[in-house]
Amino acid sequence: MKKMKITVAEKKESGKDFVKVAFDPKIPESRFVIGKDSEETLVIKSPEDKDINRRKFILLARQIAQEAKKHKVKKIAIEWNDINFKSVSNKAGEVAEIVAVNFEMANYDFIRYKTKPKEGWNFVEEILIVADKKDQKAIENGIKKGQIIGREVNACRDLANTPGGDMTPQVLVNEIKQAIIGTPIKMKVLEVVDMKKLGMGGILGVSRGSIEKPKFIILEYLMSRKEKPIILIGKGITFDTGGLNVKPENYMSDMHLDMTGGAAVAHSIIGAAKLGVNKKIVGLIPAVENMPSGQSYRPGDILKTISGKTIEVANTDAEGRIILADAHGYAERYDPRLVTNIATLTGAAGVALGERAAALFSKEKKLADKIFDLAEESGDPVWPMPLWEEYKNDIKGIFGDVSNLRSNGNPRYGDAIHAAMFLAEFAEKFPEWAHLDIGPRDTVNPDELLAKGASGVGVRLLVKVLERL
Ligand code: BES
Ligand code: MN
Ligand code: ZN
Repeated sequence: MKKMKITVAEKKESGKDFVKVAFDPKIPESRFVIGKDSEETLVIKSPEDKDINRRKFILLARQIAQEAKKHKVKKIAIEWNDINFKSVSNKAGEVAEIVAVNFEMANYDFIRYKTKPKEGWNFVEEILIVADKKDQKAIENGIKKGQIIGREVNACRDLANTPGGDMTPQVLVNEIKQAIIGTPIKMKVLEVVDMKKLGMGGILGVSRGSIEKPKFIILEYLMSRKEKPIILIGKGITFDTGGLNVKPENYMSDMHLDMTGGAAVAHSIIGAAKLGVNKKIVGLIPAVENMPSGQSYRPGDILKTISGKTIEVANTDAEGRIILADAHGYAERYDPRLVTNIATLTGAAGVALGERAAALFSKEKKLADKIFDLAEESGDPVWPMPLWEEYKNDIKGIFGDVSNLRSNGNPRYGDAIHAAMFLAEFAEKFPEWAHLDIGPRDTVNPDELLAKGASGVGVRLLVKVLERL
């Protein structure tokens, strides 16, 4: 797939073969019109509302790219004044950033396993933004930033969309190694022997059923010397069968997406590096396949984590929280100032919220509020959920310290909260901690004007977190 080029220029002359995009709120469907001077114009339905909000603007940007693809137009020209909605932001750079992020996201499709059609793919190759000289610099900067972010979102989607058989922990390692080339990010990988020495019994336990060896991926981007690091932790279950508590029929088919959190961590740090964020950032990604076999960990097993706390395995399908417990324990070595976890942790988060928001958990109200605002700004919405002390009583182990499921009642009630509370037990040493359960958002909704499959959830939000927190 060729990289899409976005340029800013004063007049359309700089590209005669561009199709001009025009907007009309009254047309029901986009049209392709040839004017008197045989100039081609693609007319797109625009919002009637001049005070369009950010969410609707995101869809408008995607719609432009989708309509161009539908009409097989490869090069389009857009008047900046047509899309510079002041109601979205009065900063041209910010509007341009949103436009570029969403052009990139809408221009993506997962084609790796498809035969190229005879007439080729329909991707947009070039976009020309026609703007006054005085706005050009701000627009260009916003576009540049937006393209970096949008491309990292798509790279995350590529990793997540790859079928489980082709995205093993080792492949995830290889892919991330490739992706960090040209950035100052350093990568280390802990192997089984290292994890045994460290006592990472959670990761080792979950991985036992698979012939694929687990990997613990560490990404270090250590720019600023003064500050303590921000740590991002991402669930990297490359396929989740449920293990011996095997998933029923159609609950398994999307479980190649269960490494979305890990992919989002890698690509948001790569994004931050490409944007030149001047901070210390560490990414931790336990990469494991959850399989049933004669070697699998069993319900009832008790696993000892790196921090010494033991986990009673009530259900082998609640595996994410177990591998993340070890990752949280490992994070303590960095003496972080802030830790954010991101994981397709529970189906219950989707039961609570539907597929429109990720669940946000944090005991620090100020941090939660900041992440909430950044989420809305980034286009990766979140909604807060409780982490009250009372929930701790629900996950007490009988023979181990903590249970990986609610142990005093129906474990399906509030599992997103119990999973978060379980992780909180391993996050007590961090000055600030937040957890994002992206289970509800792993795939796109049909009305989001994006290709079917992985959404790349989290990358846009985490880039903002790394920039601003
Ligand atoms: N990876 C799943 C959670 C999930 C489900 C994410 C659907 C996205 C979409 C997790 O490992 C899991 O299997 N959770 C179980 C927990 C249960 C055993 C209490 C679930 O949600 O069914
Ligand atoms: Mn599971
Ligand atoms: Zn899982």
